[in-house]
Amino acid sequence: MIAAHGGQLINRYVSMEERADWLARTRHAPTFMISQMTQSDLDCIASGIYSPLTGFVRQKDYQSICEQMRLANGLVWSIPISLPIPEEYERSFAHAQYIVLLSEMGERVAVVEVEEIYRVDQRAEAIAIFGTDDPSHPGVMRLSQQSSLYLGGDIWCLQKPTLHSFADYHLYPAETRVYFQHCGWKSIVGFQTRNPIHRAHEYIQKAALEMVDALFINPLVGTTKTDDLSAEIRMKSYQAILQNYYPLDRVLMAVFPASMRYAGPREAIVHALARKNYGCTHFIVGRDHAGVGNFYGTYDAQKIFSHFTSEEIGIMPLFFEHSFYCRRCDGMASYKTCPHDKADHLILSGSKVREMLSNGELPPPEFSRPEVVKVLIEGLKEERNRS
Ligand code: ADX
Repeated sequence: MIAAHGGQLINRYVSMEERADWLARTRHAPTFMISQMTQSDLDCIASGIYSPLTGFVRQKDYQSICEQMRLANGLVWSIPISLPIPEEYERSFAHAQYIVLLSEMGERVAVVEVEEIYRVDQRAEAIAIFGTDDPSHPGVMRLSQQSSLYLGGDIWCLQKPTLHSFADYHLYPAETRVYFQHCGWKSIVGFQTRNPIHRAHEYIQKAALEMVDALFINPLVGTTKTDDLSAEIRMKSYQAILQNYYPLDRVLMAVFPASMRYAGPREAIVHALARKNYGCTHFIVGRDHAGVGNFYGTYDAQKIFSHFTSEEIGIMPLFFEHSFYCRRCDGMASYKTCPHDKADHLILSGSKVREMLSNGELPPPEFSRPEVVKVLIEGLKEERNRS
């Protein structure tokens, strides 16, 4: 089995006995309510998805990540997983040994050791991580809305998130590793996604599966920008077609609890390392991975891997060119394999698909399987009814 990043799979969830102990010990510790993004970061750190991180980054690591895409000890890590704290708590937190993080429901979800409180330059962070300080970038906007005071320190997670949906698909790295071993899979390709499945996704997944033993579909279910379709629709789109179009004895699907940062190339590195932690040996990076708008070049998220040696990354990226249905090829193809003119290619952006659906038009079966189109229509109808 492939080693976790840094050599050891991290587990920062405490046992029931330890939980009681921590609750008693931190009864008078200061508390504050965390954002959904911090909640998903907590889950990723505690479950080992973000191994080797054992907590929120300290200043030395923060700087090293921003400047060199490495932790201070040299291990590759390209996005600072930080804990912004409200300004008004600076004094009271600085004198505390521990603080307790509260969920949106007010539950005590984790304890953080107050090792360091430091201030960052958010504009410099935006430029380092997103390559821009343009506020129309969702990551830049989020940074500008949050505090620039960060708390660094180890965490102890007191409870796993309450599962509201897709409970069958909540598998952590310790569990997927056992599953992969049990199935006898030696090579597994991981697939990251924040969208409902379309034919180009299916094409690159299956092309990758030709080369390895198994496919690990790992849709992201943390927060995304508001115009991305919901995690619910994303997961349902897969449920609608897995049974009929995938070899189920070679496929595992589990949710990826992380939130999207839209950091393109830098996020592709973290996405790959996280899938190594789940036990994958390979990872798919297609066109504009984790991108948004025109902030990154189409293949920047592939090029960034050349900054590191394959030993440093430890999981093999599989690169795919922009794929589409070609009318003249009469099948799925990519710019690498198709000799025909662009006019023969069926390419639809996510926003175009949304626009079509809201006008009552159906994306053609060459773009999206009819079972998926049905999920999209129903999902959007429900979203509209709710709002
Ligand atoms: S992402 O933010 O998670 O990257 P998305 O769910 O659309 O967005 O993409 C999932 C993966 O499929 C990424 O590796 C992306 O690069 C790849 N991908 C998406 N669409 C295509 C396409 N038409 N051709 C090639 N790769 C694609």
